[in-house]
Amino acid sequence: MTNKIIKVGTFFSGIGSPEKALEKLKSEGYIDDYNLEFFSEIDKDAIKSYCAIHNINQELNVGSIVNIKGKDLPYCDLWIGGFPCQDISCAGKMKGFDITSSTRSSLGWEMIRLLGEVETKPKYVIFENVENITSKKFKETLNLFKKDLIDLGYTLYDKVLNAVDYEIPQTRKRYFLVAILDNNHIFKFPEPINNDLKFKDFMDSQVDEKYYLTNDEIKKIDNKMFFKKKNTDDIRYEVDLIKYKNGGVCGTDNYSKYHQSARIFSELGYAPTLTANNTADNTKVVVKG
Ligand SMILES: C[S@@+](CC[C@H](N)C(=O)[O-])C[C@H]1O[C@@H](n2cnc3c(N)ncnc32)[C@H](O)[C@@H]1O
Repeated sequence: MTNKIIKVGTFFSGIGSPEKALEKLKSEGYIDDYNLEFFSEIDKDAIKSYCAIHNINQELNVGSIVNIKGKDLPYCDLWIGGFPCQDISCAGKMKGFDITSSTRSSLGWEMIRLLGEVETKPKYVIFENVENITSKKFKETLNLFKKDLIDLGYTLYDKVLNAVDYEIPQTRKRYFLVAILDNNHIFKFPEPINNDLKFKDFMDSQVDEKYYLTNDEIKKIDNKMFFKKKNTDDIRYEVDLIKYKNGGVCGTDNYSKYHQSARIFSELGYAPTLTANNTADNTKVVVKG
C-alpha cells in the first residue's frame, strides 16, 4: 500500500489507536498518506476524543454498526475493527462472540455483514481482539468467522502478538486477523523487536501526589516492606524487595477485591494489561523512594 492516499474506515473506533499507528507509519515514510473516510462509534465521550485526537469532524461518525447499510459507506482500501471484547476476555464472563449469543462481541459479525453488502469490498481488513478468542471455547466460532471471510474472497493471516515484543513495556497479548483480497500479496507479521525498555522508562518525571498511594506507617522486615495505617495492625500493601528488583509481580494489596488488581508490580519490569474499570482498586506499581 504505497504511493497513494489510503482510504480508511474504522468500526468500534474508540479513540482510534490504529489510526495513530497509521500516523506513525506516515511519519516514518512507510506510507505516503491516509484519509479517514468514516468511523463508527456510539460512546459520546469516545466520539469527542476521537475527533479531537484525529482532528476530524463528528459528521464522519456513521454511528452504531447495527444501523449501517453497506450501500451508504464510502469506498475504503482498509477497514479496521477491534470489536468489543468484554464477553470474550478472561476478565469478563466469556459468554460472547457466538453469532446467536446477542452479546456485544457478536457485533464483530456485523463487519462480515457489511463486507457482503458493500459494492466494492476493501482490499484489506484488520480485526483485533483479546487472545482468549483463540481459546478452545471460541475456536469453533472463530473458524466460522474466518470461513465467512474466505468465502468473501479474502486470504487470511492471523497471530497473537504481545505488546512487550514491540517496544511497549506492557504484557498485552492481542489477536490480529488480517484479511487481504489480493492472493498475490503475501503478508508477514512483524518480527519481535528486542529491547530493554521497562515500565520505569515510560514514567513521567513529575507525577501528581494524588497518584501515589501513601500509608501512615512503613515497616521493613528482612526483604519485605509492609504499609499499614497508623495505630492499627491493618496491613494494606506488602512488597517483596527481592521480587521488586527482579521486576514483575512483587507484592499484594490486601484490600483489593479482585485477584488481578491485588497484584502489585515492580517499575523494573513490565506493566500488566490494564483492566477496563478505572477505580481505586486498579493496578498498583512500586516506584523507588
Ligand atoms: C474494544 S473498544 C475498541 C477500541 C479502539 N480500537 C481504540 O483504539 O480505542 C470497542 C469500542 O466499540 C464501541 N462500540 C460498542 N458497540 C458499538 C456499536 N454498536 N457500534 C459502534 N461502536 C460500538 C465501544 O463504545 C468501544 O469504544
